[in-house]
Amino acid sequence: MHPIDPKALALRPFSVLDDGWALLVGGVDKPNPMTVSWGGLGTVWNRPVVTVYVRPTRHTYGLLNAHPEFTLNFLPEGRRAALDLCGSLSGRDTDKWSAAKLTRLASEKVQVPRVGEARLAFECRILADFDFDPSRLLDPAVEALYPQRDFHRAYLGEVLAAYSD
Ligand SMILES: Cc1cc2nc3c(=O)[nH]c(=O)nc-3n(C[C@H](O)[C@H](O)[C@H](O)COP(=O)(O)O)c2cc1C
Repeated sequence: MHPIDPKALALRPFSVLDDGWALLVGGVDKPNPMTVSWGGLGTVWNRPVVTVYVRPTRHTYGLLNAHPEFTLNFLPEGRRAALDLCGSLSGRDTDKWSAAKLTRLASEKVQVPRVGEARLAFECRILADFDFDPSRLLDPAVEALYPQRDFHRAYLGEVLAAYSD
């Protein structure tokens, strides 16, 4: 992987997460990879921003709230099993790095590591977060996705470094 200007990336914005999934890593002392497929890549406050959405029930939620940085890592297609594992087990009781045979790689710009096996990765500093307000969800089908009322928290992370193969 080599550093790349985020503006030079050629991606399919509506497929890269929805179809490809990614590993969101939060935490410094005990970093933890969690699979995500909701999110976005774009521009906020004139900066390149990665947005991820995390339910309060995730171990990752506490990690992001405790330390305002994350990395987002896209794996090669052959590593779908690692994504399945990191999207079904919790870092509360499992070391997902060893369980999924993933390597921690020190980041350049943030204290949270990247995933060594990634083919595309972002190092991000959280600029803002907010919780979905159920009174502002205008489509009942969306609210129906929250039977436990565990509305996602959105984290807007400024891209400090991007890497691509
Ligand atoms: C394909 C896939 C996509 C997922 N996307 C998200 C997501 O965007 N946000 C979220 O909160 N959970 C998402 N999850 C669920 C978490 O990955 C899962 O609950 C995980 O075990 C939480 O890990 P943690 O407790 O270590 O944080 C997804 C799971 C899968 C399999």
